[in-house]
Amino acid sequence: MNARQATATAHPNIAFIKYWGNRDSRLRLPLTGSFSMNLAALETCTSVCFDEDLVADCFDLNGVEQGGESLTRVSRFLDQVRALAGQSVYARVSSANTFPSGAGIASSASAFAALALASAKAIGLALPEKDLSRLARLGSGSACRSVPTGFVEWLPGEEDAGSYAVTIAPPEHWDLVDMIVVVDPREKPVGSTAGHSLAQTSPLNSLRVAGVPARLESCRQAVLARDFSLLAEVVELDSNWMHAVMRTSNPPLVYWSVDTEVVLWHVQAWRAQGHALCASVDAGPNVHVIALAEEQAWAEERLRTLPGVQRVMVSQPGEGARLVEQEVK
Ligand code: DP6
Repeated sequence: MNARQATATAHPNIAFIKYWGNRDSRLRLPLTGSFSMNLAALETCTSVCFDEDLVADCFDLNGVEQGGESLTRVSRFLDQVRALAGQSVYARVSSANTFPSGAGIASSASAFAALALASAKAIGLALPEKDLSRLARLGSGSACRSVPTGFVEWLPGEEDAGSYAVTIAPPEHWDLVDMIVVVDPREKPVGSTAGHSLAQTSPLNSLRVAGVPARLESCRQAVLARDFSLLAEVVELDSNWMHAVMRTSNPPLVYWSVDTEVVLWHVQAWRAQGHALCASVDAGPNVHVIALAEEQAWAEERLRTLPGVQRVMVSQPGEGARLVEQEVK
């Protein structure tokens, strides 16, 4: 028996306070801290098998063998796991997303959180949560936030050892939902890895960065006190700051479409009528509408009828990355 196998599952997360821009892009040390909620309804499950008979790493996603950039990113990540374990054995990685690929939902957070846990376990590394979060960060920054459970803060740290995420509250702490309003499922032309490197070209970047500690404090307070008005205010402000930086970068990054604007306009109008809803947009045109669970039925029905809306996926707060028995074939 010269193969060692483990399987792990993880959820993507929605950032209430965004990660945008790195101090060190190789180590993915962020310019600021960030804050997110794991999304229970969406999941990546990944099996890793280190096998001395392999002559290279291989990777399949939803049953399709991967090559190029996708395989290279996984293989580079496995190099770090091998270095930590002091081993050189190659691995087969099999991964599956429970959410439709091409639905405009970024999966690098759940992908690298699940890969970090499965590969560490399979190679025989017993890492505490903090070190697992650090490891996941090397694959994708936001992945470090998918390792701990529930509502999570990424502490930016001064160097590698201090940059990891921690739970601020468990998933059952607050009955929120994220309604992911898909207006365009296509892959975006500029992904977040390339986008991060443009942040420093915006004259607004230093202003955004300077305001993050206060917004993080408001966000933490809002979550701990279950204060939706405070949460709504800070979530929208922070999303707008990130998009202001993106739009004023060189070259400019404009992720919103007309359909994005329509959804945002309605969320504002409905909140003004007294509904507990707010909106946040990542590096793409789709809108995350965050709401108290009691607003879901009312809001979902209306969101589905807006022009350009292709689907709405609803998620409760989710757990962190965990090991499972069932292997991905
Ligand atoms: C806009 O974590 O996807 O979603 O580290 O290059 O993989 P890489 O970037 P990634 O960036 C996420 C950017 C964001 C905001 C956020 O999730 O905080």
